[in-house]
Amino acid sequence: MPQQFWKPGTDKPRILEDEEGGVVFFAPSLSSASSSSSRFGYASIGSQRQRLPVYKYRTAILYLVETHATTIIVGETGSGKTTQIPQYLKEAGWADGGRVIACTQPRRLAVQSVASRVAEEMDVKLGEEVGYTIRFEDVTNPAATMIKFLTDGVLLREIMDDPLLTKYRYVDSFGSKNLELIWKKLEMVLFCVFPGMVADLLEHIQRRRPELRLIISSATIEAKSMSDFFQTSKKHRGPEDHEFVPRKVPAVLSVEGRGFNVQIHYVVEPVSDYVQATVSTVLSIHDQEPAGDILVFLTGQDDIDAAIQLLAEEAHASRKISSGLIVLPLYSSLPRAEQDLVFSPTPRGKRKVVISTNIAETSLTLEGVVYVVDSGFSKQQFYNPISDIENLVVAPISKASARQRAGRAGRVRPGKCYRLYTEEYFVNEMSSVGIPEMQRSKLVSCVIQLKALGIDNILGFDWPASPPPEAMIRALEVLYSLGVLDDDAKLTSPVGFQAAEIPLDPMISKMILSSNQLGCSEEIITIAAILSIQSIWVSGKGVQKELDEAKLRFAAAEGDHVTFLNVYKGFLQSGKSSQWCHKNYMNYQAMKKVIEIREQLRRTALRLGIVLRSCEGDILAVRKAVTAGFFANASRLEVSDLIFLFPARLEAFSHNGMYKTVRGSQEVYIHPSSVLFRVNPKWVIYHSLVSTDRQYMRNAMTIDPSWLTEAAPHFFQNLRRPDPIAH
Ligand code: CDP
Ligand code: MG
Repeated sequence: MPQQFWKPGTDKPRILEDEEGGVVFFAPSLSSASSSSSRFGYASIGSQRQRLPVYKYRTAILYLVETHATTIIVGETGSGKTTQIPQYLKEAGWADGGRVIACTQPRRLAVQSVASRVAEEMDVKLGEEVGYTIRFEDVTNPAATMIKFLTDGVLLREIMDDPLLTKYRYVDSFGSKNLELIWKKLEMVLFCVFPGMVADLLEHIQRRRPELRLIISSATIEAKSMSDFFQTSKKHRGPEDHEFVPRKVPAVLSVEGRGFNVQIHYVVEPVSDYVQATVSTVLSIHDQEPAGDILVFLTGQDDIDAAIQLLAEEAHASRKISSGLIVLPLYSSLPRAEQDLVFSPTPRGKRKVVISTNIAETSLTLEGVVYVVDSGFSKQQFYNPISDIENLVVAPISKASARQRAGRAGRVRPGKCYRLYTEEYFVNEMSSVGIPEMQRSKLVSCVIQLKALGIDNILGFDWPASPPPEAMIRALEVLYSLGVLDDDAKLTSPVGFQAAEIPLDPMISKMILSSNQLGCSEEIITIAAILSIQSIWVSGKGVQKELDEAKLRFAAAEGDHVTFLNVYKGFLQSGKSSQWCHKNYMNYQAMKKVIEIREQLRRTALRLGIVLRSCEGDILAVRKAVTAGFFANASRLEVSDLIFLFPARLEAFSHNGMYKTVRGSQEVYIHPSSVLFRVNPKWVIYHSLVSTDRQYMRNAMTIDPSWLTEAAPHFFQNLRRPDPIAH
C-alpha cells in the first residue's frame, strides 16, 4: 500500500465562515432560554437536547417564528436544527388544532433517520405523534401526527393532493377561485431544511396564507442569497395579495456552533487513485492517531465497496487492523439494518470507519467522528436538455462542500481532516459553491407540479437560481406532446390533472392512464413499479454469465417491459420466495419493493377512477399503452442502404447495432443489460438513455412504427424530418 505524504494547510483554524450582512445575530443571553428550560424536554434525553447549540436560541427562534413569515436559521450541521426546532414549535403550540409541522429533508434516508431520532427523543412510537413520509412509504397517522418529516418531493405532492382532486372534480364551477382553495387547504407550519425549490413555492403560498410559517435552515452558505431572494420577491406581490400580519422581510438567525478546531492536511502531490489513497490514509490514521472514528467521503456505492474490499484485504494481513477497525458503508440505498450499524455507538477499544457518499456531508450526523478523509469528489446529477440524458457524474466538489466535510471532524473534540488534493488545488481551482440542483436537473416533474399548484407563468417564475431555458423548453415540449399541457400551457383536464396526481415521471403516468382504455392496467402498473426501481437483477459483477442465462428464462421477444411481466408472474407463482429470487439472480429486496410500489400505484389508480383490469395475455394492448407514454423515446435501427439493393441478402449487410432517435437523430445503442441486446429489432422505444462510452437505451421494447403516429400525431407531424416513420 503506497504511503501518502501530507502537509498541514495554511487555512485559518476556524473552518466555518461567518455570514456577512443580512444576518440578525442573537447573542445567547438575549434568549433567556435557561429560565424556561424546565418546562420542556423529555427526562431521559433532556440533557442531551439541552447541550445542542440551538437550545440556547430556543426563545429567540420561537419569537422570530411568531413575528416573521419566514425565518432563516443558519447553523452548522449537528447543531440541532432539524431534530430540535420542530419540537420547539410543537411545544409552543404550533401543532395544536390539528395542524402539522412539516419538515423536509433532501434525502429519504435522512427523513427516516431524523424521524426515528425525534420519536425517540419525545419517547413516542414512530408513526404516531412523529411520523415520516417518503415516496411509497407513509409512516404517519393523520389523526395523531403533529411533526412530520418528508422529502421535498412528497411535500409538493401533499400541497396539491387534496385540492387537485377537488379541482378536478369541480373544475368548471370553481373557476378562478381555484387558487384560493389550494392555499386554504394547507394547514401546515413548514420547516424546510434545504433552500431548494420547495422554498420558493412556499413563498408563493404564503402570500395567500399569512398564518403559514416557513423556516429555512441551512449550514451557512446560502443564507445571504436566500434572504435576498425573499426580500426582492416582494416586488412581485400584486394588489390582490392579502395583508401580511407577520413581517415580510425574513429574519435570519445565526446559531453559534459548538464545533471544535479542525486541522486541515493536504496531500503534497496530487493522488492518482483516490480509492487507494483513501485506504492508505485510513490505515495511517489508525496506526498513528489516538482513538476517534473516521468518516470517509467517497462518491458512490462502487468506490465505497472497492475501498471496503481493499481494507478487508489489509485486515486479513494484519491483526491490529482486523481487531481494531469496524468498517461500514453509508449510502442511500443501504438496507435499514446496515444503516442502524452506522449510527450505533462504537464499542470500547474499537475504531469505526464509515465510508460514505456526500449524504453524511450535511443531512446526517454521526457521533464520535474525529477524523475526516475527503476524496474531493461526489456524484452529482447532471441533465443535458439537448440529448435528454440525466447522468450521475463523479465531479469535483466545491469549497463549500469541502468545508462542510471538514467540519464533521470537529464535533466532539478537535479533529483532523485529510484532503486528498493539494492546497494549491483547493485555493486556486476549486469553485467556491456548487451548481444549484435546479440548474442541473430534468424539469418535467417540477414543471407539472408547478402547474398543478396553479403557477402558470413558469418562465417568469421567480427562481432563486434560474434553470437553463433549454431544459425548461424541453420539459414544456414533452408535457405538451403527452397531452398533459394544452396550447396555453395549462394542465389539461382530465389527463393533465390526473398525471400530476401520480408520483412518477409524467411519461409513466401517461402510460398508466392510457392502460385504462386499453384494458391492461394491472400489467402496466406492474411495469411502472419495476421501472421505478433501479434494477430487479442482482448486480452482475462476477456472475455475468449466470445472470444472462437467468434473464433468458424470462426473456420475451417483445423486449424488457414484457420480460418484466414474466418475472413478476414467476415471483408471485413462487409464493414471493427469496430462494426463488436467489436461484434466478434476482434481487429479493428489490422485488419486495416492487410489490410495495405496485400496491401504492394500485391505490392511486383506483382514486383516479382507473378500472383495474388484466388484459389476460393480450400483450399488444400492453405494448400500445407503453407506447402511449414513451413515443417520444422511439428510435430506429440504422440499416445500410445496400439492403435496398440486395434485399435478399439482408443479413449480410444489415447493421452495427446503431439506432437513431426519431426525435433528435442521436446515435444510440441497446444497453447490454436489455434482453434485446444483439437482437436489434428495427423499431424500439426505450425507457431512458444512459451514456458511458456510447449512449445506451435502457429497457427497450419493440414497436410497430404506426403506433407512434397513432399515439401522438402532433409530435411526429412537427418533426423536421419529412417522414420519420417511413419503413
Ligand atoms: O439539523 P442539524 O444538522 O443542525 O442537526 P440535527 O440533525 O438536528 O442533529 C442534532 C443532534 O442530534 C446531532 O448532533 C446528533 O447528536 C443527534 N442525532 C442523532 O443522534 N441521530 C440522528 N438520526 C439525528 C441526530
Ligand atoms: Mg439538519
